[in-house]
Amino acid sequence: MATTTETISNLAANTARLRLRPQGEDDRKPAEEPYRYAHLLPHFSVDSYPPLEPFNHTDPGLRALALPNPRAFLEGAASVTELTPNLGTEVTGVNLAELDSSGRDQLALEVARRGLVVFRDQQDFIDRGPDFYREWGRHFGRLHIHPTSGHPAGYPEIHLVYRDANTTFNFEIEESITTINWHSDVSYELQPPGLTTFFLLSSPDTGGDTLFTSQVSTLRRLSPQFVAFLRTLKAVHSGIEQADFSRSGRRGATVRREPVEHVHPVVRRHPVTGEEALYVNRQFTRRIVGLKREESEAILKLLFDHIDKSADNQARVKWRPNTVVLWDNRITAHSANVDFKETGERRHGARITPQAERPIPALDGLDLTA
Ligand SMILES: [Fe+2]
Repeated sequence: MATTTETISNLAANTARLRLRPQGEDDRKPAEEPYRYAHLLPHFSVDSYPPLEPFNHTDPGLRALALPNPRAFLEGAASVTELTPNLGTEVTGVNLAELDSSGRDQLALEVARRGLVVFRDQQDFIDRGPDFYREWGRHFGRLHIHPTSGHPAGYPEIHLVYRDANTTFNFEIEESITTINWHSDVSYELQPPGLTTFFLLSSPDTGGDTLFTSQVSTLRRLSPQFVAFLRTLKAVHSGIEQADFSRSGRRGATVRREPVEHVHPVVRRHPVTGEEALYVNRQFTRRIVGLKREESEAILKLLFDHIDKSADNQARVKWRPNTVVLWDNRITAHSANVDFKETGERRHGARITPQAERPIPALDGLDLTA
């Protein structure tokens, strides 16, 4: 396995260095250009991790609620633009890396309010490197270590996505007619992520956007009678297929922690804003507990289709260099858009993924045992 790990890292590093020389020099070997973020290429360690233990999560957004102005961190911004009425804000002129503890608390609250916040011109943040990424993420919660994904060598807490002309370490269903795969990250965990930070180190010239949808808006569009029924339901979220994908030899071929399944409410309540959000996703939600199979399948299909097609709940992030995106994984879903596959361009991203509370049911007292 160690050989496989080294081979994958070396392949990616070598691919990253290949550049064609200008016309007239094509009889010579391709020039080698060091990749600026080679130290952050995916490494697939063969470690074995024990099951995650429960922990108490205090949401940093709660601290910001007590401040006289919980949006003070945006006062120096050059621009604050809402992407859509219900989801997403784009900010310029704020250096995330310089936010103090209170600024980070305010940021968590703002992301909880807007679901998604896009910060441009964050080269300082990105260039501070993986030790800083960890310190940053730990402010918001215990960092999740992904059971199967690649990470920078020595930094298992940093989840990487990577694709280039020769390799992909993403979890993609190649048989699908679309690359769009709406999901909420690792929702199979007992305490799935809350405020999540993601940025691209390398991106295609065009394409490779990330799509987001508001699960608050998704829920609001349903009729009150149907929402009342959904509040009584809980669903099984499973990490088994993702682990099987790796066990089949793809995506680095490592499973460092045995996959888990957990039961979560179909409608969860955000611990800070109190907002209700739909909490099912096509990638990890398998069945609704207590319903007959056909009932469960019909309801989940309806909800997944609703998420897929409701562009009126969605926002789209077009990447530019040095963009850092934050989303609240509890109230949104997202998907990469792999529309650039044929160009062979590199898309290399890093995610910092603090876990949050066990999902709170919108219906008080909902029994979450399976
Ligand atoms: Fe994701």
